[in-house]
Parts: sequence; structure tokens; C-alpha cells
Amino acid sequence: MLYKHDVLIIGAGLAGLRTALEIALEFDVAILTKVHPLRSHSVAAQGGINAAIGENDSWEQHAFDTIKGSDYLADQDVVEMLTKNAHAAVYENERWGTAFSRTEDGKIAQRPFGGAAFPRTCYAADRTGHNLLHTTFEQTLRMGIKIYDEWFVTSLVCDNDRVVGFTALDIRTGQIEGFAAKAVVLATGGFGRVYSKSTNALINTGDGCSLALRIGVPLKDMEFVQFHPTTLYGSSILITEGARGEGGFLLNKNGERFMNKYAPEKMELAPRDIVARGIQTEILEGRGIEDAYVHLDLTHLGKEKIMERLPGIREIAIHFAGVDPIDEPIPIVPGQHYSMGGVHCDGYGRTSVKGLYAVGECACMSVHGANRLGGNSLLETLVFGAIVGKEILNYVKVVSSPSEKHVEEEVFKVRTRIQEMIFQEVGESPANIRRELGETMDRSVGVFRNARELEIALHKIRELRERFKNVAIGDTDSKFDYALIRTLELENMLYLAEAITLGALERKESRGAHWRTDYPVRDDKNFLKHTLISLDGERMRISYLDVTLGLFEVKERTY
Ligand code: FUM
Repeated sequence: MLYKHDVLIIGAGLAGLRTALEIALEFDVAILTKVHPLRSHSVAAQGGINAAIGENDSWEQHAFDTIKGSDYLADQDVVEMLTKNAHAAVYENERWGTAFSRTEDGKIAQRPFGGAAFPRTCYAADRTGHNLLHTTFEQTLRMGIKIYDEWFVTSLVCDNDRVVGFTALDIRTGQIEGFAAKAVVLATGGFGRVYSKSTNALINTGDGCSLALRIGVPLKDMEFVQFHPTTLYGSSILITEGARGEGGFLLNKNGERFMNKYAPEKMELAPRDIVARGIQTEILEGRGIEDAYVHLDLTHLGKEKIMERLPGIREIAIHFAGVDPIDEPIPIVPGQHYSMGGVHCDGYGRTSVKGLYAVGECACMSVHGANRLGGNSLLETLVFGAIVGKEILNYVKVVSSPSEKHVEEEVFKVRTRIQEMIFQEVGESPANIRRELGETMDRSVGVFRNARELEIALHKIRELRERFKNVAIGDTDSKFDYALIRTLELENMLYLAEAITLGALERKESRGAHWRTDYPVRDDKNFLKHTLISLDGERMRISYLDVTLGLFEVKERTY
């Protein structure tokens, strides 16, 4: 069976849904997703969404904070697009029904977040993503947008230099089918599950990035992986930056507020890369509790504030760490949280393949550079969802219908490949490969990096990619075959892990979230550049691209 639409969007988080709403104004758009939209990872976003709607704040100040936060690697024209459109995105969602927390006089409440000069982060208690996702999803229902949920995309299909559709596995039946469209949008989120300690949902396996890479689209700035300073020790569940925004302290085993050593002005509200390194240093130098974690102390905030502003955090701490933050500090460590890198595209989502767009966390529009500010991720999904959607309307109006022949041929090839995978009886266990991958990334490509560890990791990942060729899934029931899905996700993650590690090895400087203990200084002369990684057969090739400057001069970054 061949399914046809004008535009197909892969991924039903906030970015995919918001893009679809724009396209549905004029064309037939459908969304394909491996989980129900309300289970996409946007639902887990906690702390808030940035917009300079407060008195005395401005889009220019928001742009400056974002660019400084990015360690000057962000493309400044794209940051301007983000920050100028922020207020419209927030008010649009407010009109749709997002239940933002309020000030005494009824305005949208805003809390301080890391690296921001103003309290700029609008929030709905500590469930902001949950609120935004539900309201945006309701709008897609209102518009009657077709959603194919529980489908897994297996390959993109091109006709010369143009994308014409993709193949996908219907998870319910196990059948591979074809989808043809004039334009395809990748909105598949991040790839945090490449690490084993991550705040990301199990679904965040970077499928869109891998699909793009495999048809020749470069990945950009993959080495910039964000480690959130505060994830729950033992389970890696996100403990929102909003907890520090509301006044939470970080304490080492001596009860010291150690951030005064690392960011004397901003303290706990320095950008994430700096706070994560501060915590990791305390632990490495023996000032961690049980040599393993530090404390996030909220007890001085009082019961009322915690219950009103951080009710979800309280529940998480009680259920997963056995501590009630009203009475006791929360044990936390840095953990993988966000992928600054992704599919190389511009601020309109355009990739190097005609008709193929990317948006949200899977895209690298270069809006976050080397380090994203908290609260800019939800914003990115909504602002660029609208912009990319508008851009696609223009493209679809002028482009001819795709040839279906290529999609049909690809369906045949993918069916054969999947059959072969399913019926391989003896071979490597995908679970073992996945475990070894996660452990390697945690150990060698973490907050602090050096050439030796990165080389060990690269060697290991390449070995795992080789072993994957002989993988045996051990399950032949085609309906809801999650053994197969997890294996296909693993294949995607192996590509991305190699790209992250290669980019990190070759970037011989420290910038934003990428910290090399053997090159501890930022090197603008050689590395004020984006990294591009492409596939050349089975090998990865690296090249560089200039950063777009303009609004603000590149300076030393202190907080
Ligand atoms: O800490 C948080 O609530 C996460 C926010 C973000 O990643 O933007």
C-alpha cells in the first residue's frame, strides 16, 4: 500500500505538531510517529519557555543571553528569528488554553533561568511541556490533521536531488509500507539515549538524524551534548532548572554553596555547561556526597512555594529518591539532557536535499551553538515550527508531484532487509551492543573529555558498528515487534555516537558544553566554526562551516 500526502512530518512532539498546524492551513499534511503524540518527549519538559515579555526585557537582551550562552557558536541571524518571535509563540499558546502560572495581577508568571539577565522563563508550575503539548495537540485535532501513530520510519527515499517520501514499518502489523509526499519534515527530537544516563525518554534515539545522514545530508555540531546539571542520582530523571530558578542551592558534602568558585555572580543560575562542570569537579575532587553526588537544597523555599511551583519535582523526589524536598535535600548529578547538534539546516529548516526539512531538537539550525539556555528548547519548537511550516507552503506550491516508483522500489528493498534481520537466528545480541554503547558514551564522551578517552570510544563504537552487522533479534512475531524496533533504533544510534565522538575528538578546544581537559581554552582562531559530518560509504568525513556573526561581538564568556 502506498500512502500519499502533500507533506509528511515524521515526529509528533511540539515541533512536528506546530509545523503541521501551519501547513494544514493550505495543504494536506499528515504526521507519522512511533508513539502517540501525547507520549512524545515534549511532554516531559518541565521548567518553562523563554520570551522577553517582562517589563524592561527585550528581544535583543534575550538574543544576547542566547548568543553568550552558546559560547558564540550560535548563528546570530537565527537567534534573532527565535527571540523576535518568542512573545507571539507564548501568547498563541496562551490563547489556545495553556494554563500558565500567573502573577498576583494575572500576567503570565516568569522565573529566572540559567544565563538569563531577566526572569524570562514563562511556566506552568513544573509541567510546562505537558501543558503546551496538550494544547497544541488539541489544535491538530481541531484542524483534522491525519496522524499515523505507531509507525517507525525505516528509510527516506530520493529522486535525484529531491526527497519524494519514505518507507515505514506499521508497528501494529509488522508490514513495511511506502509514503509519498512533495515535502518531508524531520521532527524526531533528540538522541540522548545514545548515553545510558540521560533525562531523555527511551524513544529519543535520533532516528531522523540518522535517516538524513544516510541519504547524504550532513549532521552539524554533534559534539555539543548538553549535560543537565541536576538529574536525580540513580535514575537520571530531570530535576528542573526551575528548582534553582525558584531559589534552590547546590551544596557539596561540606555544606558549601560551591558555585561561588565557578560562577561568582550567577552562582546556581549560570548556564548549564558551567554548573554541570562545577558539580562534576566537586565530585571528582572528593567533595561529593558518598563520592557520587551533590545536594540540591530546596528546604528553605518552604512548603507552600514547593507545592505551588514545583509539585512534580516533589513527587519525583519522593517516589524515585525517597526524599521529600520540603524537609530534605535532593541528591543530584549531571546527566545527558539535550542535543545541540543535529541535521544541518538553516533557520527555515531547509537541508541540502530539496523538499527535506528539519525542525526542533533533531535539527541543527545553529540557534543554540555550543550550549543551549534552559527555556529556549520549548521556544524553538513553536517558533521554528511556524517558520518552517510557512516555508514549506511556498515550496509545495511550486513543486511537481513526486514519482511513486522510487518509493515502491524502496519498499521492496526494505522488506527484504527486515526479513533477513528477523530470520537471522544466531548472532550478536542488540541489548549487549546497546549497553556497551551507553556505557562507552557515559564514560568517555561526557562532561570532561580528552583525546585518549575519545579515541578509545571511537574505536569501541566502530567495533560495535561492525558487530551490529551480525545482529540477531531473536523474535519473529511481526506484530508489535519491539525487539525489531529497538534494534533499528540501535542502528541509528550507532551512527550518531560515532558522529558525536569524531566531532569531539577533532574539536581541539573547549567551548560551551564541549570541554577538553587537554585543550581547556576556547580557540576562536581555529574553531569558531560549525562541524559538519557526512557519510562517505561507511566512513564519516568531517568538514567545517563559518559561524554567522552580526549582532554581537565575540567576547570572553564569564558569569
Ligand atoms: O530544567 C528544565 O526544566 C529543562 C528545561 C529545558 O531543557 O529547557
